[in-house]
Amino acid sequence: MTQIAWGESFGVGNALLDSDHRILFDLLAQLHDATDTGQSHDVVGSVISALAEYTEHHFRREEALLAAAAFPELEAHKGLHRELEARVHDISRRYHAGERAALNESMMELLKKWLTEHIQVTDKSYRPWVERVDVDGSTPSSQALRGGKQS
Ligand SMILES: [Fe+2]
Repeated sequence: MTQIAWGESFGVGNALLDSDHRILFDLLAQLHDATDTGQSHDVVGSVISALAEYTEHHFRREEALLAAAAFPELEAHKGLHRELEARVHDISRRYHAGERAALNESMMELLKKWLTEHIQVTDKSYRPWVERVDVDGSTPSSQALRGGKQS
């Protein structure tokens, strides 16, 4: 598998989401290393579980932020997340059930393709919206209500 690493070209205009995406890329690279160096079923299994869990955690966070930013395509975007989550979970479940081929080279390539395409194409579309909210999803108006920072 060609190695991947997060780079500026994957930036989506929000530091928290960028750092999540970076972690997902790291987990994918770890998974690749673990399978490539012939690590045990338990070791590879724990990395694929971590990737599946973090994917889910990140998608929830991203959806909360998109809701705060009033992103109009949120429902469609959520649908894509559910689809991707199901695919990653399916790979993880099959691997844990003893199906080693669930993580062969072509499956790894697919996994990489799904995640990178989602970030580079789909996530890019929300950039103008998330750029208007704070890193944690608060909007300038909600800050004013809390008597927060002035700009
Ligand atoms: Fe997304």
